[in-house]
Amino acid sequence: MYNNAGIHGSTMKSIPDLTKSEIDQVIGVNLIGSMFGAKHAARVMMAQRKGCILFTASLSAVISGLLASNAYVVSKYGILGLTKNLAAELGPYGIRVNCVSPYAVATPMTVPDPSMASELEASWSAMSNLKGEILKPEGVANAALYLASDEANYVSGVNLVIDGGFSILNPTIFIEGKMSGASSLISPLKRLAGKVAILTGGASGIGATTATLFHKNGAKVIIADIQDTKGEALANKLGENACYIHCDVTKEDDIRNLTDAAIAKHGKLDIMYSNAGILDRPLCCIIDTPKSEIDQILGINLVGAMLGAKHAARVMVPNQKGCILFTASACTAIGGLLAGNSYVVSKYGVLGLTKNLAAELGQHGIRVNCISPYGVATPLIVPNEAEITSMEISLAAMGNLKGEILKPEGVAQAALYLASDEANYVSGLNLVVDGGFSIINPTIMKAYIQ
Ligand SMILES: NC(=O)c1ccc[n+]([C@@H]2O[C@H](COP(=O)([O-])OP(=O)(O)OC[C@H]3O[C@@H](n4cnc5c(N)ncnc54)[C@H](O)[C@@H]3O)[C@@H](O)[C@H]2O)c1
Repeated sequence: MYNNAGIHGSTMKSIPDLTKSEIDQVIGVNLIGSMFGAKHAARVMMAQRKGCILFTASLSAVISGLLASNAYVVSKYGILGLTKNLAAELGPYGIRVNCVSPYAVATPMTVPDPSMASELEASWSAMSNLKGEILKPEGVANAALYLASDEANYVSGVNLVIDGGFSILNPTIFIEGKMSGASSLISPLKRLAGKVAILTGGASGIGATTATLFHKNGAKVIIADIQDTKGEALANKLGENACYIHCDVTKEDDIRNLTDAAIAKHGKLDIMYSNAGILDRPLCCIIDTPKSEIDQILGINLVGAMLGAKHAARVMVPNQKGCILFTASACTAIGGLLAGNSYVVSKYGVLGLTKNLAAELGQHGIRVNCISPYGVATPLIVPNEAEITSMEISLAAMGNLKGEILKPEGVAQAALYLASDEANYVSGLNLVVDGGFSIINPTIMKAYIQ
């Protein structure tokens, strides 16, 4: 059920001039209409214990000063709250609830006179952060397609902001960059055809699954890891257009060689997925955390990611195009996930890096995003393969969204969406793949259900 209907009301009208009937009308269509849609969708979906509810929110629910009226802003903030609250309420029935928040798109709502469309698109693009791309209705449709599909089977409670990083930067400090053309958003069957991708931590778990999915979608993949036997075996299994390169992400020379190898072998680098990571000891507390452990975790998870981004940017900037991805963690959205402080700090660092880099590199047409998964039964948390199923069952039991299990494929699909041209205007986003886990208060929900 995609609740997308909306009206703008009068723009730039200050609060004293808004009439009650105007407020009622905008809220009536945008918010109450969406609530009705969700109510009756839930009524029929709860019985089938499965479903997907989507809303179109707006960038106005993320950042202020977009010349929207207060009635419009209030309606869209309402949708955001509805998304999160419903994701908690309906997750136990296997129903996913998400919204999309687009930057300005030239549609009849914003451009009643179609002959003005390209002029307005050009001026929005000039004001925007991500250069070289224009957000078209297809960019929003592609986000909705991703969220509605089984590829997003564990994505719930998310506001997928499609704004090229606009909402995460302070435009006063940043200097406007130069603008270039539009993009085609037709999704090819092979969604990464011809693209060159590096995946660190690519020999195992999420990285290996993503490398396989990228390769299947036409990418030339470079698997980078320190587990040489596993990495080489995967590259051999994938065959043509796959190779393995030993790279310890804590060593800048290794990262430099890795990115240079992409250029030497393929002439370019389109996607850098910094995914390598380690976990600290389970249930370790701050008091007994040795400095060596802090250094090790931050060295791999955070400094390794920064070095990856640094050398990816070095080779991407000349092309004024590229996509940098990180694997953060659902611990960037909620505390108490049994991860140690070093791990949490490293992943929050990755989140900050994502946002700051999206602002810095948007000027060069480079998109930067991260993915924050809930627990996935990979060798990181289940070294013993025989225990994968039991771990998946207990993670699902603790999770909010019932009837689905987050597998490495669920994270790989999020990476595929973000790496593909379908997400051509998505930047600065933390795509939380947690079935709405981070947006609920489990204590209250538990008491309510009992
Ligand atoms: N599995 C989960 O529950 C989960 C949840 C949230 C986030 N993550 C994140 O996902 C990412 C991938 O983890 P995974 O679950 O697939 O685990 P995994 O252990 O299967 O894979 C991690 C890979 O990183 C590699 N690696 C470790 N140190 C490295 C180094 N110095 N240089 C290069 N490679 C190195 C490992 O060899 C391994 O192949 C990590 O960043 C992790 O923090 C995992």
